[in-house]
Amino acid sequence: MMRILILNGPNLNMLGRREPDIYGHQTLADIEALCRDTAIRLGQEVDFRQSNHEGELVTWIQQAVEGIDGVIINAAAYTHTSVAIHDALKLLSVPVIEVHLSNPKEREAFRHISYIEPLAAALFAGEGARGYVKALEFLSTSQNP
Ligand code: DQA
Repeated sequence: MMRILILNGPNLNMLGRREPDIYGHQTLADIEALCRDTAIRLGQEVDFRQSNHEGELVTWIQQAVEGIDGVIINAAAYTHTSVAIHDALKLLSVPVIEVHLSNPKEREAFRHISYIEPLAAALFAGEGARGYVKALEFLSTSQNP
């Protein structure tokens, strides 16, 4: 069974009450439930996590060097700032998929740079929680082409 780590960065724990005009009304728990349903359908096992701390995300990525078959990451604001997360992701030999609920490229200029994108096998942005589903489907297809 394919084991997938899904990482969520800062402020995503506030989904539902955070700028609903941009991020919608779904909570992170709703997105986790959607990911778990999708993973069951696709025969995957998911480990779904969120942290507001850059170093904790780095540690979780380092731990994924062993025993994980793919990483889906919505690094939130750290997407646009974190060389540390970029460097940690470089340790991985498994596919990394970048996800965003909104499309940062259509927002403020400071969101246009992504330190994840150069390392990502695929990017899903601007489709809300559906992006997580597409990322799981992408990993499932990449394992069984
Ligand atoms: C986000 C986009 C980022 O620019 C922002 O900092 C977030 C959420 C998204 O999912 O649309 O926190 O990653």
